[in-house]
Amino acid sequence: MTTKSDQLLRFKVISLGNVNVGKSCLIKRYCEKRFVPKYMATIGIDYGVTRMRIRNYDIRMNIFDFSGHPLFYEVRNEFYRDVQAILLVFDVSNRRSFESLESWLTEMKKELSLHSNGHKSSVIVFVIGNKNDLKRMVEENEAKLWANVRGYQYFETSAATGAGVQEMFDNLFSVLIDINENGGVLPDTTLPNVNFTIEQVEAINRLRNNKDNFERLGLKHSCTKEDVLAAYKRLAKLLHPDKSEAPGSEDAFKLLLNAKTELLNRFDK
Ligand code: GTP
Ligand code: MG
Repeated sequence: MTTKSDQLLRFKVISLGNVNVGKSCLIKRYCEKRFVPKYMATIGIDYGVTRMRIRNYDIRMNIFDFSGHPLFYEVRNEFYRDVQAILLVFDVSNRRSFESLESWLTEMKKELSLHSNGHKSSVIVFVIGNKNDLKRMVEENEAKLWANVRGYQYFETSAATGAGVQEMFDNLFSVLIDINENGGVLPDTTLPNVNFTIEQVEAINRLRNNKDNFERLGLKHSCTKEDVLAAYKRLAKLLHPDKSEAPGSEDAFKLLLNAKTELLNRFDK
């Protein structure tokens, strides 16, 4: 008789992210406990199976390690079928690789809906900032926020030193087992708990990262006084520190007030 304690679980996991971010090295570090510093680009896709025993389950992880090169899109897209988990990887020392995550998400969502035959997908996505042994160009908080506000967990790793790798994979299998035990649905407890929106985070980043007051408010230099007032009203509602729980709301609200005052002064001159 098969009991719950001898269940065999098969999981299909894929890796996504720009070339050279360390996808193959992360997988090698976990599966083979080693690191190869020489770069060997993945050509198309690599495939491997790893077996392990967790919480009385026999686990077979089929891992499809994708090349990050745009040339291989046609090869990659076939492999999204029946996937349970996606490792969405960037390199914390390479800002462009972080900025590319959005386009990876777009590819992923398009392919998942193509292959899901209309069923709601409960694919789990882990966002991973790799190479955290190098000088970072992306702060941990910024990346965590990016992931959490989209409903994904964030992990930092170094395939070179091994830091965080085991922990990330342990978490991944734990969530996959939870989903399995919860009838194929992601339990609420595995979702990051955030009380703010992408719109709020983007407004805060725009206020923080721009030096130009028009750009801070998302306006063109040719705008009118009424446009300034309307943008201010919209953003003030979005970011008021009494209402917004997004990190950085208070400072962003001050920037917003200053920007509005300076812009209105220009019109009144
Ligand atoms: P593609 O297969 O081309 O998409 O690249 P990839 O994402 O699989 O990158 P890969 O794992 O081949 O690693 C790229 C380079 O980064 C190699 O030279 C690795 O040695 C190096 N590398 C990977 N992970 C780390 C890390 O955590 N720290 C440091 N310092 N280097 C790393
Ligand atoms: Mg690779």
